[in-house]
Amino acid sequence: YLLGLDIGTSGIKGILITDKGKVISNKTRSYPLSTPKSGWAEQNPKDWWVATQEVIKKIITESKVDTSQIKGISLSGQMHSSVFLDEQLQVIRPAILWSDTRTSKQCQEIYERVGGLDNLINYVSNPALEGFTAPKVLWLKENEPQNYNKIRHLLLPKDYIRYQLTGEIYTEVSDGAGMLFLNVQKKKWSEKLLDKLGIDKEILPPVVDSTEIVGEITAEVAQKTGLAVGTPVVAGGADNACGAVGSGIVKEGRVMVSIGTSGVVLAQIDNSVADDQGRIHLFNHAKRDSWYMMGVMLSAGRCFSWMKEELFADELDYDHLNELAAKVKPGSEGLTFLPYLYGERTPYADPNARGVYFGVSGKHQQGHFIRSVMEGVTFGLKDSLELIKEKGVEITEIRVIGGGAKSKLWQQILADIFANEISLLNVEEGPAFGAALIAGVGVGVYDSFEEAANSIIKVKEVISPNLESVELYDKQYKLYKQLYVSLKDEFK
Ligand code: XUL
Repeated sequence: YLLGLDIGTSGIKGILITDKGKVISNKTRSYPLSTPKSGWAEQNPKDWWVATQEVIKKIITESKVDTSQIKGISLSGQMHSSVFLDEQLQVIRPAILWSDTRTSKQCQEIYERVGGLDNLINYVSNPALEGFTAPKVLWLKENEPQNYNKIRHLLLPKDYIRYQLTGEIYTEVSDGAGMLFLNVQKKKWSEKLLDKLGIDKEILPPVVDSTEIVGEITAEVAQKTGLAVGTPVVAGGADNACGAVGSGIVKEGRVMVSIGTSGVVLAQIDNSVADDQGRIHLFNHAKRDSWYMMGVMLSAGRCFSWMKEELFADELDYDHLNELAAKVKPGSEGLTFLPYLYGERTPYADPNARGVYFGVSGKHQQGHFIRSVMEGVTFGLKDSLELIKEKGVEITEIRVIGGGAKSKLWQQILADIFANEISLLNVEEGPAFGAALIAGVGVGVYDSFEEAANSIIKVKEVISPNLESVELYDKQYKLYKQLYVSLKDEFK
């Protein structure tokens, strides 16, 4: 057996699988998120640890497996969120999460200190965005110096949980890359950047490959959870890297499109190429010495649930909304939706952008308003696909996962707007499943990610684009792009 744990934002998910990838047990536990001020998002790392132990115990008691047969454990986690530990390895203050936007000023400061975007891309291949870890550290230095001065270790969520499981402090490349301190080509902390920001390298953990075994279950944890003492713990990965592994994105050309609350478009690449304008992220992948390009939409499925709740007062269920939308022609007769409800990350990195329904006419009915949300979100995902193509990646397959991809109508819209076939998969267990596969590669159950992915993750259905709609959407996509350009200065 293999165990994968995903320390997410809404909760932790644990999954126990056989070596063949069959799910034996799958448990979740949620924990609170606090927003002490508007735009802030914090969590208590201790809550993650309490919930993690509960999930592990539940998996073990309910599945009744002999825990000595669990060959490896690995972890996935929300990216960028900062865990500050003191000399005694105690949590200093709540973690500042990836979705927290308090650090705009610090992002500007980073550019000033390094001498502009070009230099920053040179050092760490990515731009300074509010969600990333580096600006959070500067925020702490400026706003809570008493806490900043206590920092002995800066960790990411899953690295903190791994520390609790093993007593060892590490991070690995895929999550390390999201801190904005890592030279992603060399897989080493960028001393130049740290110097310029005045941050002590000593607070950063050693960085290893995702598949490295970095510790084992301690006697204390074994006693508390029922796991076997000495079970190997493999480093693991960022939730997006793990989600990609869990969808078989371990080969150049394969792209994952995920429609959850937010939207992700992720392509594995064999050679790292940063975007000189920083429009798309470049991070290390869990597969050794490979990378991924990723575009993140802040609101994807969230636009649909917003519409369901606010425009339809939650009176219609998903099937009913889909039925109404399906009656409307592709293109929603000109009604065009911009999905920037909470600003946008890719491709604009604009926290001020907002949602728009453009072209509303008296002929538009409820179905148009529903369908144009699906179309607008899909145009937003296409923006990331176009950037990936622009960077020279030849896309061979688009695998769509997440709640949004459950709708037959939305699946067809995706194929039509992408002007590409889309594939649906037999497994959709997400990052925890990917973490379990990373554990398998790490302890040698699988020879490679390709072997694990090809034997376990299969395409169950392929949806082809409808050529007439492709043409129509192509025109509407141009309008969609122009709308942001025209409105950009008004979003202030
Ligand atoms: C990626 C990002 C989010 C978090 C969610 O850059 O900010 O996808 O990883 O956990």
